[in-house]
Amino acid sequence: MKFVKTISEVREIIAGWKKDGFSIGLVPTMGYLHEGHQSLIRAARENDKVVVSIFVNPIQFCPGEDFEAYPRDIERDMKKCEEAGADLIFAPDACEMYADDFSTFVDMTGPTEELCGKSRPGHFRGVCTVVSKLFNIVSPDKAYFGQKDAQQLAVIRRMVRDLNINVQIVGCPIIREADGLAKSSRNTYLSAEERQAALVINRSLAEGRKMLENGEKDLKKVSQKIISVIKQEPMAKIDYVKTVDADTIIPTDKAEGNILVAAAVYIGKTRLIDNFIFGEA
Ligand code: PAF
Repeated sequence: MKFVKTISEVREIIAGWKKDGFSIGLVPTMGYLHEGHQSLIRAARENDKVVVSIFVNPIQFCPGEDFEAYPRDIERDMKKCEEAGADLIFAPDACEMYADDFSTFVDMTGPTEELCGKSRPGHFRGVCTVVSKLFNIVSPDKAYFGQKDAQQLAVIRRMVRDLNINVQIVGCPIIREADGLAKSSRNTYLSAEERQAALVINRSLAEGRKMLENGEKDLKKVSQKIISVIKQEPMAKIDYVKTVDADTIIPTDKAEGNILVAAAVYIGKTRLIDNFIFGEA
């Protein structure tokens, strides 16, 4: 496995691979890898070569968020990448990605306006900007994103469609701990007590899903149920519980088509997200 920090090195390696006719899969990450990321790397093995980017992207964090505290451990990440079958890690420093006078951003209306877009203004502008830069640097055939960030996945699909970026986006299922907690690098912030309290998120969503499976069509009732379960946990504070169309991220109260049921919940100071999709696909 190769490890590089500069754009010119990545481009040189990729050019060689392309010359040899190899297909390339990209797994963009912010590091501190867990089994969720490893499942993306394994999925990307369907390509001849797998590139993992590791970059804690400063411009997708809002003021006061956890940019400084975000866990970083490159040695550990290298082992996880190697284990899962990556061929190249691209781990640039911030100055490699953003010149001092960097001034071009990819901004989106529509799918970025609800859910995390509302709670974290500017977040998706940062995500779209860095992901389009990574697509330009690596020029992958396919790129892999987790369904845990369901809105991010919808936003990136929209960006690729709108800007005619020549890459196929592959969404991969949420990976959970044995007790149901969705894997996240931010789970490392949780104390043992908070870790236990965080289980309420998946438990509440499971209650919502059960209602839908039993034929409930009124999504307001589903959200209310989820909210009532979360409120039973004193350590939990709801940011949002919402039902939206899974592709457009437009809020809806009717269980028709593919519905994304999404929650963002603070457990202590840690903001965690989780979701499920219910519908035809
Ligand atoms: O999902 C993430 O880890 C990040 O938002 C991404 C896609 C790597 C962009 O920084």
